[in-house]
Amino acid sequence: MKRTAIIYTLLLASFVFVFAFAIYFYNQVQSYDAKIKKNADTSSPSAYHFALIGEEMDHVYWRLVGEGAKEKEGEYDVFVEYEGPKRSNPEEQLKLLDMAVKSKVDGIIVQALNDKFTPLINQAVDQGIPVMTVDTDAPESRRVAYIGTDNYEAGRLAGETLVKDTKGKATVGIITGRFANAHHQLRIEGFKDVLKQTDGIEIVAVEESNIDRIGAEEQAYKMLREHPDITAFYGTSTLDGGGITAAAEKLNRLDDLYVITFDLSDENAQLLQNGAIDALVEQQPYQMGSRSVEIMMDIIKGKPVEEIHHTDATIIRKPDLLYQKSQAGETS
Ligand code: BGC
Repeated sequence: MKRTAIIYTLLLASFVFVFAFAIYFYNQVQSYDAKIKKNADTSSPSAYHFALIGEEMDHVYWRLVGEGAKEKEGEYDVFVEYEGPKRSNPEEQLKLLDMAVKSKVDGIIVQALNDKFTPLINQAVDQGIPVMTVDTDAPESRRVAYIGTDNYEAGRLAGETLVKDTKGKATVGIITGRFANAHHQLRIEGFKDVLKQTDGIEIVAVEESNIDRIGAEEQAYKMLREHPDITAFYGTSTLDGGGITAAAEKLNRLDDLYVITFDLSDENAQLLQNGAIDALVEQQPYQMGSRSVEIMMDIIKGKPVEEIHHTDATIIRKPDLLYQKSQAGETS
């Protein structure tokens, strides 16, 4: 009897041990499966792959375009491959566009700097890749949509502001990024169209900075030496303000020059704050980036999209800057 009890006890103990081990093993397998699934989920590629190609990565304006686009990745399960030359280089930018076409991404969002971009955009569209332009449009191409400033109107706005602020009397020098860049051409065209209607204003020189701060300074310096009667400058891209004011400072002309230029970069905001720059045309680069991804998603999903999406361009003067700061809770 005693022996039978021992055997039963041993059998029961073995059963409990085997059962407990089975449960433990089952749980281990389950959690291992869950881990594998989780890893697989996080490393799985996004549903869509877009290429976003801008003018220069090492630039505050384009950093904001990229941040805006990247912010939308999670919402739409899209990977935005954001690329561009480190410093503005249209040929390199064209090569990046060519690579995006060849790598068959799901959508291309590109700044179409000049008309050399049109054949490549059309090639992408022929291969079934939808293309949008951002910041600078290529209206002659078969791109589906454009998002960015209305560059002609922004030029007009700058012209109207200069006329108002100088009370219609000025001798003007223009520093532009590059003569071949479509958006700079439009910004000059709009500006000139307004100035044409004002008798007291004359444009005496237009030079290109090659999208470079030093380039802008050299050109502004040369202009001020050749045309000492210049009383106002108009710069059509972000770095022009820094270059123009640096040249003016060297020639001791900072106080009596009127300067209007593009973009609310930190440097331009500082120059506006200390009175070296009088007015800025503020664009919306972050919104250009984020909306471009939303619009491209609509295109891919076959939803109807408008062809032109103009983002705001507004004039910022020193008091507006102070107001923006107080809105952001900063003191100055
Ligand atoms: C333009 C961009 C340009 C940037 C830097 C901005 O005003 O809209 O196209 O890349 O200036 O020059």
